[in-house]
Amino acid sequence: MSDLQTSAVRHAGAAAVPDGWQPQIVALVCNWCTYTGADMAGTTRLEYPATVRMVRFPCTGRMSPLMILRAFEQGADGVLVSGCHPGDCHYVQGNLVARRRFTIFRSLMDFLGIDLRRLHFAWVSAAEGHKWARVVKDVSAAVTAAGPLPRPPAADGWEGPALPAAEGDGPEEISAADAEALRDHLRRTAAELLESGRAGVVIGHRRGSLPGRLVPVMAATAAECRELEWGEGALNNLVTYAATALQRAEKAALVVKACELHALTGLIREGQVARERLLLVGLQCPGVRPEGALAAKCLGCSGAPHPACDLLLTPAGVSEGGSGAAAPAADTDDARDRQIAAIESLPAGERWLYWQRQFARCLRCYACRAVCPLCYCSTCVADKHRPQWVPTTIDARGNGVWNVVRAMHLAGRCTGCDECARVCPADIRLDLINRKLALEVERHFGAAGLEPGEKAALVDFRMEDPEEFIL
Ligand code: FES
Repeated sequence: MSDLQTSAVRHAGAAAVPDGWQPQIVALVCNWCTYTGADMAGTTRLEYPATVRMVRFPCTGRMSPLMILRAFEQGADGVLVSGCHPGDCHYVQGNLVARRRFTIFRSLMDFLGIDLRRLHFAWVSAAEGHKWARVVKDVSAAVTAAGPLPRPPAADGWEGPALPAAEGDGPEEISAADAEALRDHLRRTAAELLESGRAGVVIGHRRGSLPGRLVPVMAATAAECRELEWGEGALNNLVTYAATALQRAEKAALVVKACELHALTGLIREGQVARERLLLVGLQCPGVRPEGALAAKCLGCSGAPHPACDLLLTPAGVSEGGSGAAAPAADTDDARDRQIAAIESLPAGERWLYWQRQFARCLRCYACRAVCPLCYCSTCVADKHRPQWVPTTIDARGNGVWNVVRAMHLAGRCTGCDECARVCPADIRLDLINRKLALEVERHFGAAGLEPGEKAALVDFRMEDPEEFIL
């Protein structure tokens, strides 16, 4: 690194402390316990640092990472979130769900290089005035030690370390003759599904205008079925179009890769599509090659159609499926984990700089949102103006908030299709953030809750969830 880069890293890790500086800490507190506890600390004349500005909420369950980001964006050096002890929440389980959400949010902040001395969580009951005073003292000392919140560094050309290449074996190659046989099976099957009335539309791929690139199509006629294609250029996750197709037809057939089934079970679990209205057509997949090379998500995949699909298409023919789990088991090993480990091995200041550089390239085109099968809100929080939680300006603040909000919205829900990273025109490594959060969800809460009928991890809780970071 050059001197300039080194100084930027140093700046990111610990900004210079101006004379007389005192930390600004925003405390987001629950109305019923912590606020009353803080009130008791005041009425009993306990002394604690005047560094904290309180914002009162009905419950920690109401608090969102957006509010913490807003506090930092407005200049806070640290944030404290505090509410009722587990079992005491006035809305029964708001604090238990919040505990999970903040566990993952904290992991994300750490991965992005934010000094965790700036972020605190505490249980303080209405009777714990003394605890409130102690928590404020401890949090003030930690934030003081962390120093003023570093400002985004000036651009100096440093883009971060070279990450190790993702490695692994991909699916078996499919010969040209087998690929043609597979395509013929697909076209014939699609036409039969339409003709028999088993589906009113078939969601598949057809040839696009770019060489080798296939694009999504909703085939509703025999002629359109004759244009269906399949192969390494079938990049799009067609699950994204399932809900739209079901607005056009009572039943839709969906051409689906094994890795895309997670996304479908996510939509079914969240009530966005009904499984009985979909006919799943699983094909032998040769792996996809977005930039000529095999996508990282394909490394380690056999490419076989998942047996849970209703119809299974291989070069040998068409067979009935419908057996096995509705979704493949979550990946326990991923080719990108070495890249995540490389980022984690950086000092916090360099991690922060790395991600600041990545987010600085964001154009706010929202292509990542448009292509995500699990991003289906009718009005995205990024488009809301009253209140405007996500700044719309393309700068370090706005881009950072947007990218963190996007990641948190998908934490415990993202199914690893990597579509967001593929379509990002700025090549931001959204896939690494998503994968890191998936690993954190699994580490803290076990299975990610990707099976039908299960709740997503961050809207669920267990009384014994870990909380070692909570004061
Ligand atoms: Fe206090 Fe829910 S009411 S945390």
